[in-house]
Amino acid sequence: MDKVSKIGQAIHRYYEQKDLVSPDLIESILYSVDAGGKRIRPLIFLELLEGFGISLTDAHYDVAAALEMIHTGSLIHDDLPAMDDDDYRRGRLTNHKKFDEATAILAGDSLFLDPFDLVANAALTADIKIRLIAELSHASGTYGMVGGQMLDMKGEERKLSLSELQLIHANKTGKLLTFPVVAAGIVAGVVAEELEELRKAGSLIGLAFQVRDDILDVTASFEEIGKTPKKDLLADKATYPSLLGLDKSYEILNQSLDQALAIFKNLSATHGLHAEKITEMIERLRLNA
Ligand code: IPE
Ligand code: IPE
Ligand code: MG
Ligand code: MG
Ligand code: MG
Repeated sequence: MDKVSKIGQAIHRYYEQKDLVSPDLIESILYSVDAGGKRIRPLIFLELLEGFGISLTDAHYDVAAALEMIHTGSLIHDDLPAMDDDDYRRGRLTNHKKFDEATAILAGDSLFLDPFDLVANAALTADIKIRLIAELSHASGTYGMVGGQMLDMKGEERKLSLSELQLIHANKTGKLLTFPVVAAGIVAGVVAEELEELRKAGSLIGLAFQVRDDILDVTASFEEIGKTPKKDLLADKATYPSLLGLDKSYEILNQSLDQALAIFKNLSATHGLHAEKITEMIERLRLNA
């Protein structure tokens, strides 16, 4: 079974006991989980672990699943009428359109809280699990994704500077893309200095990823992105293309990817990281004008 299927399987394993609580809640959760996201965050984690010479176990898939669950919850809430008010996600109706708003809110709540149960019970040492839980909470909550989403909502009312936009992107998207890079380092037991290099690489991938998403809003079709195109454009939202133009946005995307690649290259020279797979993944994020 490939990694993408095994990530889905690990999430399903957690929700197997549906008779214990509301089957409606679990139906709504799995509707969004099974909608076919790219799984880029958990894949970064798993590919890097293998790059560090680790053989993957169910416990690693539990951590990967936990991360994908938080990301999926963030999308369900991001699409709500009170937020971006989107009708389509991952090529199908958004969760609140398929079910109702209350169900979508609760499905998101579950997807934010269940991951900590999953990680806490994974077959890893207590020390590693505490560090992973601390990093995952920090990346997701007030100091990460949720904080960034709040800045993003508040930013809709006015014109933003580049540094304000950078702060939004670093938090709403950057932190959840940094987590898998840092988490792989924690599981692999790298030294503190190396972990900080990984954190830098993760935040560069995170920035690149949101700039790429902003570009695709303008340039891609529904079939390509599975969500309504030109949504940011019509809402006059502050994005990299709206602030700096498309050409400059492509440049920032590709430069950030180059910088992340340089860090991985360096780690492969100094610490024996096998960086081929992660390099391929990063290369696939490039877009050209
Ligand atoms: C979309 O993330 C939201 C952003 C943070 C830009 P993805 O592009 O990873 O969405 P899925 O998981 O593949 O649907
Ligand atoms: C999403 O940013 C960030 C999070 C979901 C945390 P966007 O609002 O740009 O994501 P899309 O374009 O709806 O996927
Ligand atoms: Mg949004
Ligand atoms: Mg959105
Ligand atoms: Mg977007």
